[in-house]
Amino acid sequence: MRQPLVVGNWKMNGSLQFISNLLHSIQSNIDDKISCEIGVCVPFVYVGLAIDVAGKSSIKVGAQTVSEHTSGAYTGEVSASMLEELGCHWVLVGHSERRQLFNEVNEQLVTKVMAAQRAGLIPIYCVGETEAERKSGDTFSVIEKQINALIDNESINLTNLVLAYEPVWAIGTGLTATPDEAQEAHAFIRQLVKNKAGDLADKLRILYGGSVKADNAETLFHQEDIDGGLIGGASLDANAFISICQMA
Ligand code: 13P
Repeated sequence: MRQPLVVGNWKMNGSLQFISNLLHSIQSNIDDKISCEIGVCVPFVYVGLAIDVAGKSSIKVGAQTVSEHTSGAYTGEVSASMLEELGCHWVLVGHSERRQLFNEVNEQLVTKVMAAQRAGLIPIYCVGETEAERKSGDTFSVIEKQINALIDNESINLTNLVLAYEPVWAIGTGLTATPDEAQEAHAFIRQLVKNKAGDLADKLRILYGGSVKADNAETLFHQEDIDGGLIGGASLDANAFISICQMA
């Protein structure tokens, strides 16, 4: 049995006040109806604040990217051990915005996952096809390449990992994969892991991301291989985020 997980990806949004208010409201609305694990991935500069505000609540804080390097002359970068020392739990790796806007590629992303795991963080490794790739029938080959880059590497610990399927065309567009489309991709990803690691694949959580809202979360989360969501826009609204958590 996989415990559902809902993670908010706040991207480059917020301010000290906004983040403090948002986290307080999420926290004060967590009740017995919520049985999923909850995370928020915040901009680096707000990690410390978010951890302070989240306090002893069940919300676990994460970052949105991490350096693949341990330390040294990498101006502007933040290492996994720095995040761990602050109290981070998760880190997103390979979000499509990192892949597309910052040219991060599979090989580098795998080293980021390794760096995160070495420091004791749980990486949430994101994959997904663009609109053009889906239209040209390349969805599964793209996902396969992204997943295999990771799982073919013997140093990756598959028990300390979350995967996220985020079709790029569904991110921030209001378009969502249909529950069937999403389930098909999730089942495909789980099978790839199964081919490599057998039954361990059944324990691995695979989140869906891409325009998840309070009104479409339920049908998505009902799918067999969807273990929760990675939520962008809707995670900036405490009520919407809590509703999504309730559906998980
Ligand atoms: P939206 O929920 O805004 O589409 O963003 C999804 C996402 O990128 C989460 O990482």
